[in-house]
Amino acid sequence: MFNSKNLKNKRVFLRADLNTKSTNGAIKNDHRLQAILPTIDELLKRGAKIILATHVDRPKKPTPELSTKNVLKWFEKRKYAIDFEPDFNKAHEKSLEKNNTILLLENMRFFPGEQSSDQKEQAKFCDQLAPLADLYVNDAFGLLHRNDTSITDLPKKFDTQNRTLGLLVKKELLILGNLLSNAQKPFLCIFGGGKVSTKIPLMRNLISKVDAIALCPAIVFTFLKVHNKPVGKSLVDEHALDDAQQIIKEAKKKNVSLLFPTDYLVSKNKIGNPLIVAQADNFPHDAIGVSIGPETAQHYTTKIKEAKTIFYNGLSGFHDQPESLQEIAKLFKAMNESKGTTIIAGGDSVAIAQQLGFDKNISHLSTGGGSVMAYLSGKELPGLVAFTQHT
Ligand code: 3PG
Repeated sequence: MFNSKNLKNKRVFLRADLNTKSTNGAIKNDHRLQAILPTIDELLKRGAKIILATHVDRPKKPTPELSTKNVLKWFEKRKYAIDFEPDFNKAHEKSLEKNNTILLLENMRFFPGEQSSDQKEQAKFCDQLAPLADLYVNDAFGLLHRNDTSITDLPKKFDTQNRTLGLLVKKELLILGNLLSNAQKPFLCIFGGGKVSTKIPLMRNLISKVDAIALCPAIVFTFLKVHNKPVGKSLVDEHALDDAQQIIKEAKKKNVSLLFPTDYLVSKNKIGNPLIVAQADNFPHDAIGVSIGPETAQHYTTKIKEAKTIFYNGLSGFHDQPESLQEIAKLFKAMNESKGTTIIAGGDSVAIAQQLGFDKNISHLSTGGGSVMAYLSGKELPGLVAFTQHT
């Protein structure tokens, strides 16, 4: 980051993605906080003053629960000299104080300019933020697919030599880029979760690169519906049926195996009811598919063992219903034991792998969710485009 080794007397605006849930100030999962530390450490080591900015959630109005103040204790506990300043005028004064410290700003999304589509409002917001720093670093990998002002417009306020991507963004792009261009084969993707629409472009882009795609609930039910297979009351995205059909055709053409579960964990009538195992070819009409069943877990585990690259995205099951995660846990365990390259993306999936203790030997736990989907789908990321535009 930046040519000059010494950043003494330099104020660096560090746009991070510290979007994490907290209850009464306690952080539930600190993966994104841990992931930004190498950048923070490097900047502090070189003598910089860090002006740290992030968004938290999608606030309709400022609330204490979504204040960035909630991450202060986390940094203090790790002995970082950090101060919090929500007022930009005062932040400007403080930015000129001591080096080697962090000044944390308030949740960027508390300010209308961050997500406004009004150019005047965006410009006004940039004019408040830009004077706080001499240099700009974008290390908010999880937000690169968004148009938030501090991601897209603020960097343009800095000369090209005074702005750069951070260590985390570079690492994520390298690893995910390799997945697109250089993945070792057999390459297996495992997709679950509910949002079929976000997975379709991803599958379309990956289908010429992978050997197999293992489908899990809930997205699998949209694919099954294409062939009128029984899915009971499971979640089906009726708008995505044509796209799902296209993917099935493409997979056939490209000789990619689409793997379907042979059994499921299901709840009768409503989510939250006790789980039972249902066979795929005898799917009860009143059942909602929640996760894969034990037979499928065994089959997918074998595929994981055979693969040299495994990419997992989209959780099947619910974090507040532990028994719904027992079969998916077997996949995480197998990934953890794999000698191949293993990548898990998406906040819920990463959090559960960590919670279950199957994260230690995963090659990469991405800090992105939507940004990973967008990148692997081959879409342009606004946060990166900003860096290719000159001031
Ligand atoms: C995420 O949690 O995926 C990122 O922080 C982006 O958040 P957003 O979806 O609210 O823009």
